[in-house]
Amino acid sequence: MDTMDHIWIDRGASRHLARVLDHEGLPPRAWVIADTTVMQLHGRRILKDLTQAGVAIGSRAVPPGEASKSVAAANDLWDWLAEQGAERGDPIIALGGGVVGDLAGFVAAAYLRGVPLIQVPTTLLAQIDSSVGGKVAVDLAAGKNLVGAFYPARRSVIDPDLLATLPRAQLVADYAEVIKTAVIFDAAMFELIERQADALDDPALLEDLVTRCVRWKARIVDEDPHDRGARAVLNYGHTIAHALETVCGYGAYRHGEAVAIGMRGAAAISVRAGTLARAAADRQHALLRRVGLPQTFANAAPDDLVQAMQRDKKVRGGRIQWVLAERIGAASPGHHVDPHIVRDVLHDLRAPAA
Ligand SMILES: NC(=O)c1ccc[n+]([C@@H]2O[C@H](COP(=O)([O-])OP(=O)(O)OC[C@H]3O[C@@H](n4cnc5c(N)ncnc54)[C@H](O)[C@@H]3O)[C@@H](O)[C@H]2O)c1
Ligand SMILES: [Zn+2]
Repeated sequence: MDTMDHIWIDRGASRHLARVLDHEGLPPRAWVIADTTVMQLHGRRILKDLTQAGVAIGSRAVPPGEASKSVAAANDLWDWLAEQGAERGDPIIALGGGVVGDLAGFVAAAYLRGVPLIQVPTTLLAQIDSSVGGKVAVDLAAGKNLVGAFYPARRSVIDPDLLATLPRAQLVADYAEVIKTAVIFDAAMFELIERQADALDDPALLEDLVTRCVRWKARIVDEDPHDRGARAVLNYGHTIAHALETVCGYGAYRHGEAVAIGMRGAAAISVRAGTLARAAADRQHALLRRVGLPQTFANAAPDDLVQAMQRDKKVRGGRIQWVLAERIGAASPGHHVDPHIVRDVLHDLRAPAA
């Protein structure tokens, strides 16, 4: 498999979806799924372009937010597709952030046992992460992403210009994943963000960063398509992040904010475990702070976080597998860490009471 062969990154690419359908040998008929915010901001223009190019379009908008990643929302969409007479060859276009990408992707994976999926990601997180690698899912009451599939998109059309409308706080949060990619793979990209940290929304910078991040993710996905080994390195910062999200409730932190706190913790653990120089951890810390990401948590007890980590679905045989940094630009998965070190670090990450 070569993931990059199915990805097109270009400023303005979302204006040429009709050409993409044609190039993929798909019929001039497509089903566009977005959330109401993205439908308003970008969907209308995209639907108009497609219609003008002779593509017959059906479209459906779901409410924005994680709650739409549900079996009920998927069920609604399947009913709608069936009522409209959507056929096996018709592509579904998932236009939106990770929520719509995962939901519409899951809908595409199961409807008629699979119809072609075109991803058009509209958040920085979706462009560099959720639209690459073929994982699609919905949430259950028992937890996130518990029902899903590996269902790679026929094509991901990544248009960095769509990011221009993102609220600042969302853009900043998503930068945590960009900086994560830099820390685990790419020292030059880390330096680039250091140099440009005062202009995070610069369109040329975003195109450059998206391209680099997608290449790194595609490379690791090709190495480990079903997430059984190498891909675990992408979880840098996520062990603590997932625990924070579980303990504080989804919505207390944006995902990227939780990841930033988790990366600070992972770097501190790496220093204590002897894999990372303190100066490198400080450098990561300085960049995350400069970008505007949080560095400490409140409202969670370290012991509760440890318990949540033990229950994480990535735990094997009761032992937490840590991704530790080795330097800026390299990390490795599968480390066991002395629980005392973890507890100490969690205590340090806790914001002092006001
Ligand atoms: N499949 C994977 O491999 C994978 C990887 C990482 C995350 N995810 C999933 O992704 C989801 C989070 O994705 P997300 O952070 O993109 O959230 P999201 O899809 O909810 O988007 C965040 C918010 O931004 C708005 N928005 C989207 N694009 C916009 C734009 N261009 N301009 C203005 N506003 C815009 C949306 O309406 C929404 O309110 C989670 O459910 C997570 O589990 C999946
Ligand atoms: Zn993440």
